[in-house]
Amino acid sequence: MIGAINDILRRIPVPVVWLAGALPFALLLWDTFTGGLGADPVQAIEHRLGRTALYLLVAGLAVTPLLRLTGISLMRFRRALGVLCFAYALPHVLSWVVMDMGFLWAQMGQDILKRRYLLFGMGAFVMLLPLAITSNNLSIRRMGGQAWRKLHKLVYPAALLVGLHWVWAVKVTEREPFFWLFAILVILASRLVIRRRVAWGRVLGRV
Ligand code: HEM
Repeated sequence: MIGAINDILRRIPVPVVWLAGALPFALLLWDTFTGGLGADPVQAIEHRLGRTALYLLVAGLAVTPLLRLTGISLMRFRRALGVLCFAYALPHVLSWVVMDMGFLWAQMGQDILKRRYLLFGMGAFVMLLPLAITSNNLSIRRMGGQAWRKLHKLVYPAALLVGLHWVWAVKVTEREPFFWLFAILVILASRLVIRRRVAWGRVLGRV
């Protein structure tokens, strides 16, 4: 069964994931030009870009636990998911800088003081930036696999910050941000369990 699923997945070309990942952006453009963004278009753009970035971040994070727990491998698509996440996070941030704040530094400072959760988003963005820049074969070769893997562990604290960024931004009555923060915590916990199991496997293997 798992073999059959992996066979099907192997036949899907990676560009299909890139195309699928571009769909939310195409829909956003469509809604922007057809007046489908509601009463506050700037906020709608900001929110939709931020959400899509978060969904892609979680999808990328879930690849390894999914492989370890079920044997289903989405490894070939992991880089695309990561880069797509950043491709939405960047315009999300820019929508705040340009459309929301009008490039006014003083206003940005005031907004950060008023909405401290923006700092979580900024922390996450600063961590995701080097990951996006080094998500190519040349960087892996130049940095060496070990250093590259170490750097890319930044995705875990970044995901946690993004989860907190959203939870703190909303009113307590909204469930979705809590659901995603919970999902992020579960994925991070599963990674710890997997790491411990591997470490114990090594210890027992040596005995
Ligand atoms: C410099 C970094 C960032 C800034 C300035 C920023 C700014 C914002 C702002 C202004 C909002 C709207 C909050 C509100 O309406 O009260 C928001 C929401 C959000 N941001 Fe960010 N953000 C940043 C980084 C990120 C990153 C890196 C991600 C994801 C990878 C992200 C995901 C989200 C999500 C999911 C929401 C909630 C959207 C919703 O309520 O529908 N943000 N952010």
